[in-house]
Amino acid sequence: MSLCFTHIYTTMINFDKNFIYLHTKNTSLVFEIKKYFYEDEKYIKEDRYFITQRYYGPSLKEELSPKEPLLRPNGSSEDYCNDYLISSSFGNGNNSEVSLLVFNENNSAVTRLFYKGFGIIKGGKDVKLPHARNASETLHIVEKDDVSGIEVHLYYSLFEDSDVIVCKKEIVNTKQNVCYIRKASSLECPINCKSVLITTFDGAWVKERTRHTLNLSSGVFVNQSFLGSSSHKHNPYIEVVDNENKLHYAFNLVYSGNHKETVEVNPTAHTSVLVGINDFGFEYALNKGESFMTPEAVMVVAESTDEITFKMHNFINNHIINPNYRYKDRPILFNSWEGSTFKIEEKSLLEMADVAKEVGIELFVVDDGWFSNRPNDHSGLGDWTADNNKFPSGIKKFAKKIREKGLKFGLWFEPESISINSDLFRKHPEFAQLVPEYIPFERRHQIVIDMANKKVIDYLFEMISKVIEEAELDYIKWDYNRLITDAYSNTGIRCGEYMHRFIMGTYELLDRLTTKYPNLLFESCSSGGGRYDLGILYYTPQIWGSDNSNSFYRSFITCGTLSAYPQSTFGVHVSRDYSVTGHRSSLEDRFNINCLGAFGYEMDLRQDNKEDLEIIKKQIDFYKKHRHLIQFGHYYCVDNCFDDDRYYSFVVVSENKKEAILSAVELSPGVPNKTWKFKGLNPTAIYEIEMRPQANADIKLLPKLSGVELMDTGLDLGSLYDEKDNNVFQKGIYSRMIFVKEV
Ligand code: GLA
Repeated sequence: MSLCFTHIYTTMINFDKNFIYLHTKNTSLVFEIKKYFYEDEKYIKEDRYFITQRYYGPSLKEELSPKEPLLRPNGSSEDYCNDYLISSSFGNGNNSEVSLLVFNENNSAVTRLFYKGFGIIKGGKDVKLPHARNASETLHIVEKDDVSGIEVHLYYSLFEDSDVIVCKKEIVNTKQNVCYIRKASSLECPINCKSVLITTFDGAWVKERTRHTLNLSSGVFVNQSFLGSSSHKHNPYIEVVDNENKLHYAFNLVYSGNHKETVEVNPTAHTSVLVGINDFGFEYALNKGESFMTPEAVMVVAESTDEITFKMHNFINNHIINPNYRYKDRPILFNSWEGSTFKIEEKSLLEMADVAKEVGIELFVVDDGWFSNRPNDHSGLGDWTADNNKFPSGIKKFAKKIREKGLKFGLWFEPESISINSDLFRKHPEFAQLVPEYIPFERRHQIVIDMANKKVIDYLFEMISKVIEEAELDYIKWDYNRLITDAYSNTGIRCGEYMHRFIMGTYELLDRLTTKYPNLLFESCSSGGGRYDLGILYYTPQIWGSDNSNSFYRSFITCGTLSAYPQSTFGVHVSRDYSVTGHRSSLEDRFNINCLGAFGYEMDLRQDNKEDLEIIKKQIDFYKKHRHLIQFGHYYCVDNCFDDDRYYSFVVVSENKKEAILSAVELSPGVPNKTWKFKGLNPTAIYEIEMRPQANADIKLLPKLSGVELMDTGLDLGSLYDEKDNNVFQKGIYSRMIFVKEV
């Protein structure tokens, strides 16, 4: 740790003339250390300093020079409270959202932090929370309030290859018997502009991550969740475009609990973005010598939305995903839910497994309903042993039979919930979240288990491990169909800490299981895609994207989700295409839209006729041939359905740009024909073009074209409308999939 202003250089972090420079491949972040002037100067003998953010944007070519402080007539500094602070706290006169609020034991809420020094850490700062892995270098800044003894450590970790910077803060109580953290944002990022365009991804069950935009030139915008998970309602990912300089910033949080992203535009100063744990109901006690580490906030800056998406995908694939699954092809799965719901029966499952194997599926997953006391969703959660009536020869033998067919095997769990009608609840009612004297608030006939109770974690770890070992599981679907209402632990946890300690319990359980079973593939889920965030992705490399597999709605969910998260993380299934709205599509069109991710089928395959099974078989052959490209290729949204809801098209391009797939979708019949463009190809290369054969469309022979032609002029595929389908589906969706390869 260097506490004095010396010259320190590494390739990515260097210090010169009161500036600290951080460089990733294409971006720079610069902090300026400034002298603090204030009216209390007369009482203070030694110099004091504070730290501000001077620049965040594309790589800086030259070094900066210090700005003169703006002195008010009385000699105090105008610029402290209006300056580009990265660690603002209450008690300094800045009349805007602060990132730190501490209630001190003397009943004051004042924290005045002064810069003490910085150091450089090779790699990252280790933490218990989920975090971005393999940081290149980390800048460690120390600030302290000498009166209250509150110390703040800021860690800025650089992910050079992805151009991402991740920030977290550690708050230490060095002096007081006890103090209470009421707010601790992970990141405060000032932006030099007075008008921004904010993009968020919001929704509800079956309508996840719908894009919304809002222009803000004054006031405070908040994107947040309250009920214990990142939520269907407001995803923690946000984008902010500086309307003046046209720079795009994006932020996310490596956390699955209550989050809060605040964008404040002060028309007489600048914009500031705060990212972190939601301070709603938050009050974390720190005894003397204790510290609190915030989750990590992620930030990136670029010159376009495409670039932002590219960098975020790259960062998640390289630094969030469990290294055992990094760029590892994901299996094609069959899931029993939509085909069988709770009607789980060994015999019919084995019949389905035969068909699954025949069409090329690799992993057979039995969803909800396999365990004791679970004839429907009114009971059984917590009783994680197989139902002997449904599996007369036991789960071990059933799993063996599945494996003997040449399939891998997986099961569904919902560890964080408990049914009142369950053996577990009867035996351990204290394991549930039950506020004394209240009637618990049931949703989907279930309540939440107390993940903040260590005994619960031990119980779940033991029960789940037993099943994993007995059935030799290859895969677990980890569901969570609840929000927290009765936040309470009878172990005496303070209510202001409960939400955080709950999610820390979930992380601990996932950590123990993923450590013990490193090859087990986890796919998380939360009533579809209600917990789609970087915290859960740290443990579960894929997430079931939505309970809505209807291709019309999926187009929007896919388009929204992939703005922020790579396709390798996105669970997608072809299902029966249920829809009450009349938006229907053929099996072929469903594939063209729903194959973009960690793919599978979810229907009773025994009901399909020979022709449909033939179609599925060909789809799976195609998917297997291009699996790596589909799951890990560079994704580009070309026709964004949130801009024009008649079309959606996307392209995935291989790393070396030699191969690409385009999916072109018309979202309703009768829309004007258009040309379908590519992105990300090598402009000078010549590509041969192949249409994926579809049972409902004539194959079009397409000439060889150069990358530049494919990107600038695009392909004329004529109308995608298909009369045969349209007779069946009045509000049909029509699509084609094109594969191009450099000759
Ligand atoms: C949730 C999931 C579904 C399915 C059911 C089972 O709704 O999103 O995919 O697993 O639970 O109860």
